[in-house]
Amino acid sequence: MDGAVRLFVALEVPDGIRSGLARWARDTVGGDPALRLVAMESMHLTLAFLGHRPVDEVEPLGAAAGAAVEAVPGQVALDVGEALWLAPRRPHVLTVAIRDRTGAAAALNDGLWERLEALGHEREQRAFRPHVTVARVRHGARVRPRELPSPPPEAFTAPALTLFRSHLGGGRPARYEALVRHSLGTDS
Ligand code: 2AM
Repeated sequence: MDGAVRLFVALEVPDGIRSGLARWARDTVGGDPALRLVAMESMHLTLAFLGHRPVDEVEPLGAAAGAAVEAVPGQVALDVGEALWLAPRRPHVLTVAIRDRTGAAAALNDGLWERLEALGHEREQRAFRPHVTVARVRHGARVRPRELPSPPPEAFTAPALTLFRSHLGGGRPARYEALVRHSLGTDS
């Protein structure tokens, strides 16, 4: 599509947490030829996937994310949870579930989608299931969902809500570029 960019809105995850998740994924499934590990710089917690949109929507979408942040002041306190295959029966990704300790992430997600709907975007029908994707099933491969040990428990706060552009790699992993960042409260 000419003049279109592939966009999504996600909570950023601190470096120390991402490196821990990357280490856990490498140790746990790094030897599985059906899976491709996600690089730590590509890890985030997606709230809204928007697909290909005209470039001139970047500004209103960035502003919508900012308005959602303003409506939910304070920290977004999260915990690293357990391994979660998605979709559970026929996985295409291995993720780590994230616990939304205070409900702030769900409130932010609701507020964001309200504003996205006002801009004409159709709300994600699936229930909000916060997660960070750590590995993807390779094209043409199939994995059986299996029980995995949990990553070490960790508490963190999300530093920012960010509008990202996804640059598809044509066979190589996509690269994500932060276009508009809105910092979130880090103190209680
Ligand atoms: P996920 O990895 O957290 O599941 C950028 O591509 C991000 O948008 C991905 O990290 C992915 O989130 C999400 N995404 C990609 N394609 C999607 C789709 N078709 N529907 C919903 N979310 C998608």
